[in-house]
Amino acid sequence: MNSGLEVRNLQKHFGGIVVANDICLDLKPGDRKALIGPNGAGKTTFANLLTGTLVPERGSIRLNGADIMHLKESKRVRAGVAKTFQITTLFKAMSVRENIRLPILEREGKSLNWLAPSTSFPEVESEIGRLLAQFRLESFADVKVQDLAYGQQRLVEMALTLALKPGILILDEPSAGVPTGDAHIIVDAIERLPEELAVLIIEHDMKLVFRVASRIIVLVNGAVLLEGTPGEIAHNQQVRDLYLGARHDR
Ligand SMILES: Nc1ncnc2c1ncn2[C@@H]1O[C@H](COP(=O)(O)OP(=O)(O)OP(=O)(O)O)[C@@H](O)[C@H]1O
Ligand SMILES: [Mg+2]
Repeated sequence: MNSGLEVRNLQKHFGGIVVANDICLDLKPGDRKALIGPNGAGKTTFANLLTGTLVPERGSIRLNGADIMHLKESKRVRAGVAKTFQITTLFKAMSVRENIRLPILEREGKSLNWLAPSTSFPEVESEIGRLLAQFRLESFADVKVQDLAYGQQRLVEMALTLALKPGILILDEPSAGVPTGDAHIIVDAIERLPEELAVLIIEHDMKLVFRVASRIIVLVNGAVLLEGTPGEIAHNQQVRDLYLGARHDR
């Protein structure tokens, strides 16, 4: 059964502050949903509850019908719930190709052999080639990550995450820190993600959100204020007052 992720009634406090208040969300194969909301609304906290970085006080998370709440973070990744690697976890002195090789070897249980000549695993090298092409990184394959522009480093993060072959992909602010002029490469990469992947995009850049998301969830004070199509969200007065301001440019 490939029914995706079903999140029900997640509750979490930090001290006296409720950061997840009865959150429900469905993420089905092929979905492109965005989670928006003001700073401190609880978006990253929610992502961390999904990945298992944080444990909720109550609620349930099911993946393709199976309860995954008891699974630790590493096991949830193996089950198919992945959040993008953070830039700090990239091996910056290594090339793009070498970075992408690591999660593939890890996934294939070949990580003990990661110092072996790459030609030992031609299927791994061809998968790296496909990921490089998907993220338009072919010409940077042998460039050290530290020598890439920031936007391209973020593409490498996405490529590494996809190398784990997740069914559910969570992108937490994929365009943060990327110069405005380069934001299109992030949009392009999101648009080229595998069609059947379920994607949750947490993002402040409304232009990006309205471009890539078919549904938008607005989170305020840890609670879902509303979920709707981009049109419904853009025209909702409560959202405009609370978060988007008087206008947004579509
Ligand atoms: N580890 C923690 N311990 C205590 N409070 C925390 C912790 N992490 C986050 N918070 C608080 O929980 C609330 C939600 O934070 P969170 O980072 O989830 O918000 P966010 O919606 O991702 O914000 P942003 O848009 O700024 O990334 C905030 O009030 C934050 O200060
Ligand atoms: Mg955040």
